[in-house]
Amino acid sequence: MKYSRDIMSLSPSATLQLSAKAKELKSSGRDIVSLTAGQPDFPTPVPIAEAGIKAILDGKTGYTASTGILELREAVAESYSRRRKIEWKAENVVVSCGAKHDLANLIRSAVNPRDRVLLPRPYWVSYPEMVKASGAIPVFPEKCIDPAEILKAADQGAVGLLLNYPSNPSGFVPFDDQMRDIADAIAATDMWVITDDIYEDLVYVEGAALHILDHRPELSERTAVVSGVSKTYSMTGWRIGYSLANTEWSRLCGILQAHSTSNPCSISQWAALAAVEGKADKEKGEMYRSFRNRRDLICSLLSDVESVQFERPDGAFYVFPRLADEADSARFCSELLEEEGLAVIPGSAFGAEGYIRLSFAASDDDIREGVTRLDRFLRRRYNA
Ligand SMILES: Cc1ncc(COP(=O)(O)O)c(C=O)c1O
Repeated sequence: MKYSRDIMSLSPSATLQLSAKAKELKSSGRDIVSLTAGQPDFPTPVPIAEAGIKAILDGKTGYTASTGILELREAVAESYSRRRKIEWKAENVVVSCGAKHDLANLIRSAVNPRDRVLLPRPYWVSYPEMVKASGAIPVFPEKCIDPAEILKAADQGAVGLLLNYPSNPSGFVPFDDQMRDIADAIAATDMWVITDDIYEDLVYVEGAALHILDHRPELSERTAVVSGVSKTYSMTGWRIGYSLANTEWSRLCGILQAHSTSNPCSISQWAALAAVEGKADKEKGEMYRSFRNRRDLICSLLSDVESVQFERPDGAFYVFPRLADEADSARFCSELLEEEGLAVIPGSAFGAEGYIRLSFAASDDDIREGVTRLDRFLRRRYNA
């Protein structure tokens, strides 16, 4: 049998693979500390869980509109119109099975075979594979995103680009003037943009971090915003994300979704509505403060570790240290797991060789123990 060349060119998700490997070793009895998690380690807030239970008991268990229940699309449109001062309506919103699904729909709906799509580094693991799965070509700037790279990519025929701030893997959030320069550069091109804002509520800098649409509202004509409830409300398993885009782009995503997954889980949509309506804002605030404290903890511990350099992350729940003198981060991570029982993700998975990603969506004890093990491993490696 012959298989799809596009699909055969995809790599498995390194983050999911490593988390699974760490879990497997742990269940076989090994003492493993995992700083791989891409999800909050809190239960879903009770008011949200109750909304889900109520949906089941009320019999809201059939198919819904394939783009999602109107109540949720309206609530998302209303909330993001307020947040970004753009006029979005329910018809601009598609609710999907997680933000990942929205991203895949948007990319698939925007590209033609061999189109080039700019992916600033470090990128989230799934972007290049999603682009390739759609028959398009991911292109990477030489340095991390800057306006000149955007203009250069446009000159070389790139049709679109993906932005993700706060960033997974680095937690980086651009300063407002950097964001304005990025927005200005995009405005000087014809490229479409997808902004993956899934960590937008986990920003630890003072004041609001601005968005390209805050600087250049007119870009909303060709910018799709992606977010969801997974990270902010600890709902990764419920699988609800959403996108806001111009009506045609949203319509195409809706058609694609109708012929692939139909609607996202009806029960999860009602639970997500409780989240978007603010029914768990207290719990959201508590989780946010925990992440900020853990960010401070891991940064203070890492600053005593020799042989790593890192920028303090301003958002999300990851820190992305650069290793002194490591050309093969995947090998480094597998030796670290083998020798010290510490699981972290190699930078190579994010297009940034020589780095590792540590998640601080973990208990204080695991963060302390994890950094201790990393330190011990590095001392042995470099002082040997
Ligand atoms: C940058 C980024 N975008 C999208 C997603 C996917 O989110 P969801 O679980 O809602 O599909 C993740 C999850 O790890 C992520 O880190």
